[in-house]
Amino acid sequence: MFYDREAAEEMEKSGNPLVYEVIYADVPEESGQLGHCTTIIHPGKVGREYFLTKGHYHENLGTAEIYFCFKGKGKLIMESTAGECAVLDMFPGSSTYIPPFWSHRTVNVGEEPMVFFCIFPGDAGHDYATIEEKGYPKLIVEENGQVAIVDNPNR
Ligand code: F6R
Ligand code: ZN
Repeated sequence: MFYDREAAEEMEKSGNPLVYEVIYADVPEESGQLGHCTTIIHPGKVGREYFLTKGHYHENLGTAEIYFCFKGKGKLIMESTAGECAVLDMFPGSSTYIPPFWSHRTVNVGEEPMVFFCIFPGDAGHDYATIEEKGYPKLIVEENGQVAIVDNPNR
């Protein structure tokens, strides 16, 4: 999932640190239910790119989601099936809405674990293959000691 393949392989060889954890509630994956979980992204970078989640579309594309951030500092990268891209800030107390038809990936741009709560329709399902293949139009990297949003040269 990381842009810099060489740096990713290097990281795997030198300790393979935990990038993120997801603690899921045991809810039936069906219409009418609300799936929910807590995500913890640890601080770190692969090359210049900050630690991130894999990112996905919902299999049932017409389902939305809400992220509520408790701790840390992050970015939410989204891309719609129509090809629009958006990057939103996440910070303690922020509530972020992911509309239907938008894929989503989160990035920890801070120096402490970033923790957020997610709520989504029980029948949303998850499609990881599209993002794994295409990535996102934007990368979140460190540039001159600052957080920068740059174009993904592979898109
Ligand atoms: C569920 C959702 C989040 C993510 C979690 C990990 O629809 O968007 O709970 O699943 O933040 O990210 P992924 O699933 O992309 O590895
Ligand atoms: Zn989701």
